[in-house]
Amino acid sequence: MDYKAYIAEHLSVEGADRGEIAESIVVPPDTSLGDYALPCFKFAKLMRKSPALIAQELAARYPTDETVKEVSAVNGYLNFKIDRRGLSRSLLAQIYGEEALEGYGSSDEGKGKTVCIDYSSVNIAKPFHIGHLSTTVLGGALYRIFGYLGYKVVGINHLGDYGTQFGKLISAYKHWGNREEVERGGIHAINDLYVRFNTEATEEMEAEAREYFRLIESGDREANELFDWFKELTLSYVKKIYERLHIKFDSYAGERFYTDKMQPVIDELREKGLLVESQGAQIVDLEPYGMPPCLILRSDGASLYATRDLAAAIYRKNTYDFDKCLYVVAYQQNLHFRQFFKVLELMGKEWAKDLVHVAYGMVSLEDGAMSTRQGKVVWLEDVISRCVEKALQIITEKNPDLENKEEVAEKVGVGAVMFGALYNSKIKDIVFSYDKALNFDGETSVYVQYTCARAASVLQKAGDFGLFYDGEPNAQEFELIKALAEFPDTVRSAAEKYEPSFIARFCVDVAQKFNKFYFDCKILQAETQEIREFRLSLTKATLLVLKRALTLLGIGVPEKM
Ligand code: ARG
Repeated sequence: MDYKAYIAEHLSVEGADRGEIAESIVVPPDTSLGDYALPCFKFAKLMRKSPALIAQELAARYPTDETVKEVSAVNGYLNFKIDRRGLSRSLLAQIYGEEALEGYGSSDEGKGKTVCIDYSSVNIAKPFHIGHLSTTVLGGALYRIFGYLGYKVVGINHLGDYGTQFGKLISAYKHWGNREEVERGGIHAINDLYVRFNTEATEEMEAEAREYFRLIESGDREANELFDWFKELTLSYVKKIYERLHIKFDSYAGERFYTDKMQPVIDELREKGLLVESQGAQIVDLEPYGMPPCLILRSDGASLYATRDLAAAIYRKNTYDFDKCLYVVAYQQNLHFRQFFKVLELMGKEWAKDLVHVAYGMVSLEDGAMSTRQGKVVWLEDVISRCVEKALQIITEKNPDLENKEEVAEKVGVGAVMFGALYNSKIKDIVFSYDKALNFDGETSVYVQYTCARAASVLQKAGDFGLFYDGEPNAQEFELIKALAEFPDTVRSAAEKYEPSFIARFCVDVAQKFNKFYFDCKILQAETQEIREFRLSLTKATLLVLKRALTLLGIGVPEKM
């Protein structure tokens, strides 16, 4: 049962709709006054009364019943005490009951709707570096979250596989490379060649590179074979990392895919009188909207990043008929997205409003000094491997007899890197620290994983037990129950706000409450058989929900730790 909705149904605040009221209801940190609370401050303007007075009036009118037993008004808050037994019964029934077949917290609200998610979008022949962590992990989480809510989801890797750098790469390869070395060194060898070109290339090589790029574009066989080879090497490299991060895509249509799809867009822009010439280039003037012009064609006729994004958006609309198309891309590209969204709007595409730039902050490393093969660039693979190594050390120290240590370390280490990008509000810049990320007592994935292992071990020792959910919960039990009850709302708002961090925080909150319950209440040696079953049911519910939540984030759960 959804208590917030239930409370909202019985409240009437002039001018505010029920959904809005339900959304405003919170679980207060101190629950001595109530289990749920409605802050009345935002109604003050609407009702032209003080929040304190509004709270008092609403409290006086509220029809208490078996479900919501007590209502009080304190300092502008309306506090509700609910039937604790009822909540625990309905929660456990939901987790175990028929609805559980679909998955607790899942829904079909997205039925018949499609969401495209453009994420990770790596660049061919360039490093897959720490800067790609957030887009990959956030995008992957959103992919699963929307799927869990019944949406059809299309994961798109908008590969950066277009541009003059490929001409440079071919030139560098011709001068300094050889097949075996590149085959062996893969992306690192390709990157070395590219870096070398940028430091050592002569005027002549620059001209040659432009010619190679032209050859790729004009369909020259040799140039295209080399290009395809570089692309293949890059993709087989990144796909291994995607596997470790549990990331998948439905489409790898990259920038190059739009080569023949740009001309119609340019024609349409011209027809609609939007294309203007400026210093030889073709642009769309965005000055009336307070933005610099959107460059469509350079003076040499070459297309740009924005041109390809325009073509891609139109293609996606035609192909998938999306209800929303998300771009999980760093905030550095804010302007780019505002610009090309605006151009689509000016073209009269009413669906331009359904394009969303899901912007996120930067990730850097605490020990920026970490040596890398290419100077300053930090490869994501190195961060993952190092974190897994450290996880293995810690696990070996803590539990030398653990079986499958490597497997556990992989889940813990990879999870820690991912959680680093998932725990804070996405727009914040993050400094990743191995020690903090692997702290068993911190607000970390390993803390949550360890809590799962603890719950699993209790259940294993318990053997068979019946589902029992009819107890009157004590304080620790009830705090845990209430935390678990937040899951469906958490998933929904994570999707609505494109904020997987809500789920990450939910995991830590539940883990903390479970641990308090675990240390304060005897589970296996409970006072009575009924209490024992109730606590075991609660333990099992916690494990199921935490596993589900971590899975939505793409993080694995070891059986034992
Ligand atoms: N490859 C680009 C980069 O690394 C990101 C592409 C994002 N997606 C898009 N449709 N522009 O910066």
